[in-house]
Amino acid sequence: MQHRVTAQRSCWHRVAPSRAAAAARRQPRHQAVLAAAGGGTDALHLFSPSKINVFLRIMRRREDGFHDLASLFHVIDLGDDMSFEELAGTASADVLTCNMDGVPTDDSNLVIKALNLFRTKTGRSQRFKIDLAKRVPHGAGLGGGSGNAATTLWAANELCGRPASVEELLLWSGEIGSDISVFFSNGAAYCTGRGEVVENVPPPLPLNTPLLLVKPPVGLSTPEIFKALDLDRRSTADPRQLLARLAAEGATQELTVNDLEQPAFDRLPELLQLKQQLQAEGSCYSSVFMTGSGSTIVCVGSDSIPSFLSDARYTGMFVSPARFITRQRGEWFAGPSQKAAPQAPTAVVA
Ligand code: C5P
Repeated sequence: MQHRVTAQRSCWHRVAPSRAAAAARRQPRHQAVLAAAGGGTDALHLFSPSKINVFLRIMRRREDGFHDLASLFHVIDLGDDMSFEELAGTASADVLTCNMDGVPTDDSNLVIKALNLFRTKTGRSQRFKIDLAKRVPHGAGLGGGSGNAATTLWAANELCGRPASVEELLLWSGEIGSDISVFFSNGAAYCTGRGEVVENVPPPLPLNTPLLLVKPPVGLSTPEIFKALDLDRRSTADPRQLLARLAAEGATQELTVNDLEQPAFDRLPELLQLKQQLQAEGSCYSSVFMTGSGSTIVCVGSDSIPSFLSDARYTGMFVSPARFITRQRGEWFAGPSQKAAPQAPTAVVA
């Protein structure tokens, strides 16, 4: 599916570069296999998935500045491609390359943080060469960087002969971010605490449910959105009931609550307008909601692209179909090209 937006004017100020789509189209899709790399060493190619929050309740503000949440996280098939190689024993640093401008490749990148964590926890000294082909937009509420960190922990563990269990990787990952642990679940997880307390649940929605992701060129900062949350304006819905009702009733508008919509929409009124316009598509979607701290809006029930998005005001929009995915025990998540009936994410920008 492809839909090209061609316009001169945009209502989205602070226009962020939307190069992910173009860069991703240039990248070949990799298989999750060990393959001989140019230098003769083995390279591990893995799909690095992202996630959405089907509902997100914020339960309380904590003294450490974080928030206790209760959320159904679901891993999805929009993701990046990563390749990993072990460097020679003489190497004193990891080498990270990335196709997307603006992505740091130093110690501040979660990929390097994950490798440092892995070495600290396992006592290994192995250094790695990592190539990251980004497709997931930044500041989107999709956990793209967190997925990269989880994929890196998985890859390092595989290449080093599995010194750690998946349970240990899950536990350790909470030390470098709140949204990483979910990628060590089966794919559908009820998460609490900062997000790092992960309970596997049977996927409450059919895996082939069509999803459409729509993200304006403006990203949102997670700490800023959490800080701007007005606790008095939250939903009062019981998250356990939301989970139970989702399985019984499907993804209705009522059940896909996100308490962070309030601060995100206060900060970016155009995002509320975008949600409302998508909702106005009527019977097309059973639900339209923001994921995480935004700014991606998720539409459930169809992945056809509404014609209004071709209007000049929506220049630079990231639009991608997606599907829920799960992971088999002992295996990593497979990307769209590795499944029988691929539904390749199509990031579309002007
Ligand atoms: O853990 P992570 O690095 O993803 O969190 C980024 C920021 O988002 C935190 O520094 C915090 O300001 C906010 N946050 C929060 N409560 C959470 C998760 C994140 O307040 N449960």
